[in-house]
Amino acid sequence: MTGAALREPARLFDVAGKVAIVTGASGAFGRACAIALGALGAKLLLASGDRAGAEAVAQEVRAVGGAVAVVARRPDSAEDAALILGAALEAHGRADILVVASGMNKVARIESLAEGDWQGVMDANVRGAWLMAKALGPYFVANRVRGKVVFLSSVRGRLGNAYGYSAYCTAKGATDALTRVLATEWGPHGICVNAIAPTVFRSKLTAWMFGDDDAAKAARARSVSRTPLGRLGEPEDLIGMLIYLVSRASDFCTGQVMYVDGGYTAA
Ligand SMILES: NC(=O)c1ccc[n+]([C@@H]2O[C@H](COP(=O)([O-])OP(=O)(O)OC[C@H]3O[C@@H](n4cnc5c(N)ncnc54)[C@H](OP(=O)(O)O)[C@@H]3O)[C@@H](O)[C@H]2O)c1
Repeated sequence: MTGAALREPARLFDVAGKVAIVTGASGAFGRACAIALGALGAKLLLASGDRAGAEAVAQEVRAVGGAVAVVARRPDSAEDAALILGAALEAHGRADILVVASGMNKVARIESLAEGDWQGVMDANVRGAWLMAKALGPYFVANRVRGKVVFLSSVRGRLGNAYGYSAYCTAKGATDALTRVLATEWGPHGICVNAIAPTVFRSKLTAWMFGDDDAAKAARARSVSRTPLGRLGEPEDLIGMLIYLVSRASDFCTGQVMYVDGGYTAA
């Protein structure tokens, strides 16, 4: 590997022919991830609770020459996760990459956050990732696939927040822990498990922060003022890290939470 890595380093990032499962595929990051991997020649299985949204993303993937199938499921149960894996196997014959891009937030200070809403945030972010990993891990091991698993964490997995993030910070902290423990369990099989931890980037989840009202402006100013690179993110900002984490380039990198945050956690 070392010699080839030095002679043809760009090939380290080659994912052509790899089969990638993406959950939350109709979301901002899920969409960007699907299009970028499709453009690189990966074959996609888009899992989504929004069939129409995912079909629209699939059209964009086809437009860049990608092979893609859609399954209208979110990973809400073991049965859903098995069905999503089964759909990838049926469409493309194998699975190499898992990107869990499904997740959500419920912003409310703990005094007014309902227990059910806390649980909903935990389920969407942590249970979904855990169930998908639980479905993919045995498949990778049984088929000797040196799989690549990428979770979406957040700077909020590491940092607190005074504006109503008790569920989200807890969920993303758990995502970080899950990343480390699965990397440890599956390292002997050559399976890499890492997380991307962004700061605020433009998506449905954060649409309110990109608005023109005073609350949005204040939240944006707070965030930008402590971001060394001086702006909020866009989904495209995460793609370089994604390609690294799903390709051979990251074969000796596992259990890491990769901050793609304009320097937010450095300040
Ligand atoms: N945007 C940010 O600033 C930011 C910052 C840090 C981390 N993140 C993380 O990045 C990931 C992608 O989010 P995004 O920013 O791209 O947001 P997004 O555009 O809202 O996409 C998230 C997707 O998750 C799925 N989803 C929504 N509610 C769900 C639920 N209750 N259970 C399971 N899945 C659900 C939906 O996809 P389908 O309808 O296709 O199933 C939704 O489109 C999330 O884990 C998020 O926490 C985002």
